Amino acid sequence: MTQHLAAPAAPASGTHTDWWRGAVIYQVYPRSFADGNGDGMGDLDGVRARLPYLRDLGVDAVWLSPFYSSPQADAGYDVADYRAIDPMFGSLLDADALLRDAHDLGLRVIVDLVPNHSSDQHDWFQRALREGPGSPLRERYHFRTGKGEHGELPPNDWESVFGGPAWTRTPDGEWYLHLFAPAQPDFNWEHPAVHDEFRSILRFWLDMGVDGFRVDVAHGLVKAEGLPDIGRSDQLKLLGNDVMPFFDQDGVHEIYRSWRKVLTEYAGERILVAEAWTPTVERAAAYVRQDEMHQAFNFQYLGTHWDAAELREVIDASLAAMRPVGAPATWVLSNHDVTRHATRFANPPGLGTQLRTAGDRALGLRRARAATLLMLALPGSAYVYQGEELGLPDVTELPDEVRQDPSFVRASGQDGFRDGCRVPIPWTTEGSSYGFGAGGSWLPQPTGWGELSVQAQTGDPASTLELYRSALAVRREQPGLGAGDSLEWLEAPEGVLAFRRESFVCTANTTGAAVRIAVPGRILLSNAEVETADGKVELPADTTVWWAV
Ligand code: NOJ
Repeated sequence: MTQHLAAPAAPASGTHTDWWRGAVIYQVYPRSFADGNGDGMGDLDGVRARLPYLRDLGVDAVWLSPFYSSPQADAGYDVADYRAIDPMFGSLLDADALLRDAHDLGLRVIVDLVPNHSSDQHDWFQRALREGPGSPLRERYHFRTGKGEHGELPPNDWESVFGGPAWTRTPDGEWYLHLFAPAQPDFNWEHPAVHDEFRSILRFWLDMGVDGFRVDVAHGLVKAEGLPDIGRSDQLKLLGNDVMPFFDQDGVHEIYRSWRKVLTEYAGERILVAEAWTPTVERAAAYVRQDEMHQAFNFQYLGTHWDAAELREVIDASLAAMRPVGAPATWVLSNHDVTRHATRFANPPGLGTQLRTAGDRALGLRRARAATLLMLALPGSAYVYQGEELGLPDVTELPDEVRQDPSFVRASGQDGFRDGCRVPIPWTTEGSSYGFGAGGSWLPQPTGWGELSVQAQTGDPASTLELYRSALAVRREQPGLGAGDSLEWLEAPEGVLAFRRESFVCTANTTGAAVRIAVPGRILLSNAEVETADGKVELPADTTVWWAV
C-alpha cells in the first residue's frame, strides 16, 4: 500500500496516538466565526487569526463547516466545486496557510465533506441539464420521468427535509431528486463515477494535510431500490425515528469501508466522522465499525433534556452501543443546525431542537454550564460549537426578512430557524460587529452581544469562557477524563447523577433545588459556588461538580 507524501498531519506522523478517541473538537462555522477582510462574512483568514484563541481554549481539533465554492443556497452545504475555496472564504493558499498554522499550534483540522448532494451549479449537474434526457451525466443524479398522464406528478411521494416535495421538474419535463433544497440535487451512488470522484476528493484534501472529514448526511447516500413510495404525508416527523427509503440504508456502509481504505494509506491518523441521523444509537454504531468511520455524532444525546434519568439512559445506551464496535462514544450539545443549548434549556422540555422562544435565559445558561461539565466528564470525544464557550443564547428575535436558512424559506410554518445559532460571534465589547470583523455582520447581532464577548469574559473567573478554559485544562490533566468506554455509576438522590472514573468523580444536580450529598473528594471544578461542611455538600440547583478522589 502506498504511503503518500502528504503535507504532514499534526503533530507528528509515525506515532500512533488514537488522538481522536477522547478529543475535544471545536466546530467553526466559517461564515460566523471571524471576518478577516471586513466584508461582513467570516472567512479562512479570520479563522487563521483566531487559531491561538482555540489553542488557548484547550481544544484538540477544529472542524470547519464547508468553505468550498458554492452559490450558498444552503450556507455552503451546496458545493459547486469540491476542490476549490469559495472566494468569499478565501483561496486554496489561505486553506494551506490555515492548515499549517493549526498544525504548528498542535491543533488538528477536520473539514466537512458533502457527498449526498452537490450544488445545482456543479459542472456535472449543469451538463446533465444541458444535455437533456438520455445524457449519461443524468445517471450521476436521480433523474426520472414523472407520474400522471403527462408526467406532471413527481416520480414518488418523498418529501424534502426542508419541506415540500423532494423532486423538482426541469424545463424538458424530467424530474430530479433533492432530499434538501432544489439547489441540492442528490448524487446517484449506484454510479461508479460518483465513487471514483469522491475517493479522488478525499485524496485531494488528505494531500492538503487535513486530519479528517465530517461526512454530511452520511446516512443518505444510498436510496432503496426502485425509490419506493413511503405512503404517508407527515414524513418529517419520521426522520431520525424510522428507517426511511432514503436514509440509513445498509448499502451506505460499503462506501465508508472503501473510504477507510483510502485514509489508511495516509500517515497521521486521519479520521471520518459520520453525521448520521439514525433511529437508534445501535444503528449509529454500525457506521463506526472497525473498518468504517471513526466517530459518529450522538444526536440522541443532543436531543436529551436536562433530566438525570433521561441523561443516564442515553449515556448508558451510547456507551453500550459503541463498546462492541470499539469506537469511542461522542457527545454534543449544540451545532449549526439546532437551537443553542443555553436556549433549549431555557425553555420547557419537549419543544424539540428548533425554538423561537428565548425562555428563561438565566436558567438556560445555568443549566448549559452544568451540562457542559457533565459532557466533558464523559468517556469519549466531545464536540463544542463556536460561541457555546461564551454561553451564547440563540438569537430568537431575528426578523423574518433577514433570515437566510433555506429551510425557513421552504418549510412555511414548519421548523427552520437555524439562523438563530448562526449569528456571528462577539469578540470585543464594542466596535463594528463586536470584533467579528471591520465591517458589519451577515446576520444582525443583537444589542448586548458585546457583554458576552471573548473580551468581556476573559479573566473573569465567573464567566462561561473561563469555565470552559478551566474544564478543558483539567480534562487534559486528569487521568480518565475523556478516555475509555465505561463509567461506574454511584448511588445518588433522585435527579442527581454521580459517577466515578478512575480517580475522578462527577456529580450533576439536574433538579431545580439544592440537594445534599456526602462529599466524594476534593473539588476540582464546578459551575457554581459549592459549600462543603461536616463531610456533606449542598449541590445547588443545576450544578455539576468535578471531584478528585
Ligand atoms: C446537514 C448539515 O449540517 C446542514 O446544515 C445541511 O443543511 C444539511 N446537512 C444538508 O447538507
